[in-house]
Amino acid sequence: MSEFTPRYLADYQVSAFTISTIDLTFELDDTATKVTSVMSVKRQGSHKQALVLDGEHLTLLSVKMDECLLSADDYFLSDTALEIPTQADEFLLTIVTEINPQDNTALEGLFKSGDAFCTQCEAEGFRRITYYLDRPDVMAVFTTKVVAAKDKYPYLLSNGNKIATGELGDGKHFVQWHDPFPKPSYLFALVAGDFDLLQDSYVTSEGREVALEIFVDKGNLSKAEHAMASLKHAMAWDEETFSLAYDLDIYMIVAVDFFNMGAMENKGLNVFNSKYVLADTESATDIDYFNIEAVIAHEYFHNWTGNRVTCRDWFQLSLKEGLTVFRDQEFSGDMNSKTVARIQNVRVLRSQQFAEDAGPMAHPIRPEKVMEMNNFYTLTVYEKGAEVIRMIHTLLGGEGFAKGMALYFERFDGMAVTCDDFVNAMADASGTDLSQFKRWYSQSGTPHLKVREAFDPETSQYQLTISQQNQAGETFAAEDCLHIPVKIELIDADSGIGQGQLLELTGPEQTWTFAHYQAKPVVALLGDFSAPVKVDFEQTDLALEVLMLAARDGFCRWDAGQKLLCRYLHKLVAEPDYSLPESLITIFSKILQADSDPAFTAEQLTLPAFGEVADQIHQVDPVALVNAQKKLKHFLAAGLQQQLTACYHNCRQKTGLSQQQAIGSRALKNICLSYLAVLPGAESLVTDQFGNAANMTDTLAALNAAAFNNLAGFDSQMSAFESKWHDTPLVMDKWFTIGASLNSADIFERLEALLKHPLFSIKNPNRARSLIGAFISANPKYFHCQTGRGYRFLAEQIKRLNEINPQVASRLITPLIQYKEYDLTRQELMLEQLKALRALPQLSRDLLEKLDAALN
Ligand code: PHE
Ligand code: ZN
Repeated sequence: MSEFTPRYLADYQVSAFTISTIDLTFELDDTATKVTSVMSVKRQGSHKQALVLDGEHLTLLSVKMDECLLSADDYFLSDTALEIPTQADEFLLTIVTEINPQDNTALEGLFKSGDAFCTQCEAEGFRRITYYLDRPDVMAVFTTKVVAAKDKYPYLLSNGNKIATGELGDGKHFVQWHDPFPKPSYLFALVAGDFDLLQDSYVTSEGREVALEIFVDKGNLSKAEHAMASLKHAMAWDEETFSLAYDLDIYMIVAVDFFNMGAMENKGLNVFNSKYVLADTESATDIDYFNIEAVIAHEYFHNWTGNRVTCRDWFQLSLKEGLTVFRDQEFSGDMNSKTVARIQNVRVLRSQQFAEDAGPMAHPIRPEKVMEMNNFYTLTVYEKGAEVIRMIHTLLGGEGFAKGMALYFERFDGMAVTCDDFVNAMADASGTDLSQFKRWYSQSGTPHLKVREAFDPETSQYQLTISQQNQAGETFAAEDCLHIPVKIELIDADSGIGQGQLLELTGPEQTWTFAHYQAKPVVALLGDFSAPVKVDFEQTDLALEVLMLAARDGFCRWDAGQKLLCRYLHKLVAEPDYSLPESLITIFSKILQADSDPAFTAEQLTLPAFGEVADQIHQVDPVALVNAQKKLKHFLAAGLQQQLTACYHNCRQKTGLSQQQAIGSRALKNICLSYLAVLPGAESLVTDQFGNAANMTDTLAALNAAAFNNLAGFDSQMSAFESKWHDTPLVMDKWFTIGASLNSADIFERLEALLKHPLFSIKNPNRARSLIGAFISANPKYFHCQTGRGYRFLAEQIKRLNEINPQVASRLITPLIQYKEYDLTRQELMLEQLKALRALPQLSRDLLEKLDAALN
């Protein structure tokens, strides 16, 4: 293992050398691929330092400086670097290395996904291909020649434009690519394989034609249509919204089954987890369709926010990720229901990002200390990062923000820059002072807003007082105060009419006064979730009910209902026999009757997630929380049975709907089913839906209901599903997920059986997550069971993954390192597993960083 020393943002220094061009030749071979790299290197500045190139897991074959072959005495070689103590200022360096793609189960650098060769270089994977200055501020023009057997690898792809092809002896052929845009090594990509190819084209508003190509496994061509349509929508959207058009003649996407993340924005050649490309109605859910559209757009948007302007160093990751997530969220909102899309963002933040921000790996969106960069592709950098960009958008307005974007590209196109550079462009273009706002980049933790109100009938004045506090509930010192946009709406008690307004909270505590109210208005706070904060504000049930029906802001209508439900979940956790009020039935009955968008109604009826409620309760007993959720669900289902049944059948019978309406209708129908399925005698409804489902959304809703309630038909439904989908990996992932979320006391025996299933492979990240990840997130009752068996199960799998794929291991350990969320019994059981893992020999840097953070 290499050195495990952290790196600090404060230590940043410009590179001692630059590389202006790199010419690569790959002679592909499963176990011995030869990589020849020819680089023009130039000293930067007037120092005499040696050239130190990064390199890991490489076999060095030769090094040549200009025409001179170096001998082993001319350089120093370690596990992580090649150091050449030269005095020359400018030279051509030729390095030949050998690598073993077949044995690369970490899926970083060059690896095999099934029969295809594929690369993943972000963040620091290029150093597993050749010795290089593997840092994002070293930008070079890449030319790449790929050589391989023509029968097995008819397609040889890399970044940029194809400049040469040819036949060689022994059945081999080659293709050479040239990318005219200088780029950092993390954006390099190579793919070789045999695929089906979906081709299309897009004409930019300036009339330039771009070839669009999506490569998928043979037989999957029809499943790439939605991805292609999404790509074209994203290209048009970015031209309309930000005047950003694509810049090369070809845009390629390759879908692979073995991938650690969602997808990767390599210049002109995106590599995607097949999960975010392939879909047809039979095999993919409505959520899959939504996610594909979002990820395709995300990677496409990176071409400007990430590739044309990139990060100076990895501490600046949110520069490209926060901004690009914000862009894809806006796009998804425009293509679908805006409010529903926004609600989904908030759910992710509240149920996962808040916990990360309160746990041992908490970090600002611009981290200051990193040991393993792969550990910082986090919900904080991505999702909270996007919220920070959204706040700038809220403060500047759409027009000001667009001006800021234009200035950002004017100043920094072709450069590697910092988060401060971005914020400065926004501030300068709009004439807004964002100096205090910048604290969002350096403070970790979720701020709390404490809210008080006062009404004086004499003066007809309503007063709202908001203070800002840190996680521990202490009011911020003035120098730590954040600049927080708080959208509010005051709803007149008599007329029900709302008035919207944007407040800017900048101090420890501020009061706003509103005149001319005959009666106390009801306030809807944080419209559209205008800041990533928690709100401590005791509104009465009655006020929340007013908001649920009357707030103009859709997010606030939804949020009020969630707040009401959380309130009663808290009561049930504290007192399991607590008897729930009928008023809950009354209000949700009104929600079911209201003439809202069915997709929105489905969101209103969805109970707050386990993680979201757990985050609100100090040292929660997880099983008490599961029981509380179950009780609340029963109560609502029983009280609303007739209406839910009617709504369910009504949705089922609807015909002639548009695509969008059909999705909403399915969402509403399936949330009704999830309630009805908890009631006695629901078996037949679930069986009937499973038997008659015409799409994967409905099939999975039925299976989930069967799993959640451990219904008698479950096993036979699972075998029918398995027989049907045996050969479709993405659907079998869903099958493993449902198997792992079954609410049954024999779950551990079942998990063992699933691990031994012929289709299970821990080497495939999607498959590993579909079983292990699903168990820990979708089955809290057994994951947190008193015996500690759930934690033991997870620790065993992490131990296996530590050697196979450290990145996947490191993601799955999340619930264990967040042990302080739970009661003392669980804490002790979790700590036991954490300590055992810490004692493993050969611990990866990824796990070590997290274990040390958790245990210190
Ligand atoms: N940069 C990718 C994205 O956000 C994510 C990624 C990171 C993929 C690291 C692979 C490895 O789109
Ligand atoms: Zn991204």
